Amino acid sequence: MAQTWTPNSWRQKPIQQVPDYPELAALEAVEARLAKYPPLVFAGEARRLKTALANVAEGRGFLLQGGDCAESFAEHGADTIRDFFRAFLQMAVVLTFGAQQPVVKVGRIAGQFAKPRSSGIEKQGDVTLPSYRGDIINGIEFTEEARVPNPERQIMAYRQSAATLNLLRAFAMGGYANLENVHQWMLGFVKDSPQAERYRKLADRISETMDFMKAIGITSENHPSLRETDFFTSHEALLLGYEQALTRVDSTSGDWYATSGHMIWIGDRTRQADHAHVEYCRGIKNPLGLKCGPSLTADGLLELIDLLNPANEAGRLTLICRFGHDKVAEHLPRLIRAVEREGKKVVWSCDPMHGNTITLNNYKTRPFERILSEVESFFQIHRAEGTHPGGIHIEMTGNDVTECTGGARALSGDDLADRYHTHCDPRLNADQALELAFLLAERMKGGRDEKKMVVNG
Ligand code: PEP
Ligand code: CO
Repeated sequence: MAQTWTPNSWRQKPIQQVPDYPELAALEAVEARLAKYPPLVFAGEARRLKTALANVAEGRGFLLQGGDCAESFAEHGADTIRDFFRAFLQMAVVLTFGAQQPVVKVGRIAGQFAKPRSSGIEKQGDVTLPSYRGDIINGIEFTEEARVPNPERQIMAYRQSAATLNLLRAFAMGGYANLENVHQWMLGFVKDSPQAERYRKLADRISETMDFMKAIGITSENHPSLRETDFFTSHEALLLGYEQALTRVDSTSGDWYATSGHMIWIGDRTRQADHAHVEYCRGIKNPLGLKCGPSLTADGLLELIDLLNPANEAGRLTLICRFGHDKVAEHLPRLIRAVEREGKKVVWSCDPMHGNTITLNNYKTRPFERILSEVESFFQIHRAEGTHPGGIHIEMTGNDVTECTGGARALSGDDLADRYHTHCDPRLNADQALELAFLLAERMKGGRDEKKMVVNG
């Protein structure tokens, strides 16, 4: 199995979820252009993320990963990016307080364009067309023309990713993420939300702590960690021609890296051990995610772990579990036990979105209480197994959309039509995302208190 890996060795393997490009010469020309473009991220950054994730694997940190299900060309803009980043920072600050541990921040952003589909075709009335596969491949409009895969879209996705990343880097390093701004992150619609008061109180405590630290000489001027934050990007590595074009040798280590994002993951539909997506991912050195759904057996998981992380390095592999609120108790313990038995080092993360999708009033939605219930079970199961519930992976936006039902504002099936903007799966709005963060923070605090009781008792 361990044959020589090259950035294009995946082309010799069977592959799922491939778009049907009408002109291969045009596709090849685009891939050749992309191969000359600058990398979006650097190998050293990916290594820094891996080190941070190694700490999470060892129980000293928590991974917050989230963003759009699918980024779109239509929604691209400074406000959308700022609103997302702000909601994400708010969640991170709430979780840091709850966990009293570093929170590793990874966006599903600046590259999250390609979508796996459960069916290759979509039917509306008497008309059948190829499915929408994400803006990097074809258009969402239900017309024959829009649904034809167009390679030029890869160039547009690359450019959008570069522009998004540029703004995110400025936000993360240029002062916006300064903890002194913790109150200002609340501007926007969350300030009138049911979470506002809770957040304000927490922000007051942080400000008070900052004032105290300032009094003893620790300021954001002399301590960059107070004014800057590490923010990383991630996406599903689905469109392998695009990924290959952005795969580069790191001149310091001589290793191959995906430079399309810091972390990439393998989706639940493309994780066959002898297929193309696993082949591509095994050869690059970035931190990897692997989606784990109900059909994954314990042996299947161990085989994938050996392929993707043969040296058993902590931080290399994050298992993103997405079973569904009613299936997590059946599937998670058997996987945890197999991984523990074999001494494999992984980050356990919970994706409470993809196993909890239902259709209501003709909209795909996710009830907030089911999302919450899967997260709660995930925490309980890890506590019972003695393993570290290391992170969450969510689909969210900083905007006031109505895509998931429930939450403190009790969105109902009838509200979905109001602001249903997603290009793929339903996302938590900023309010629901923050509510989830507060509930998680409480669980983490509960876990800490339990540990203390064990130590003291
Ligand atoms: C996703 O993360 O958007 C996705 C398609 O997930 P999964 O592969 O787990 O179904
Ligand atoms: Co999704």
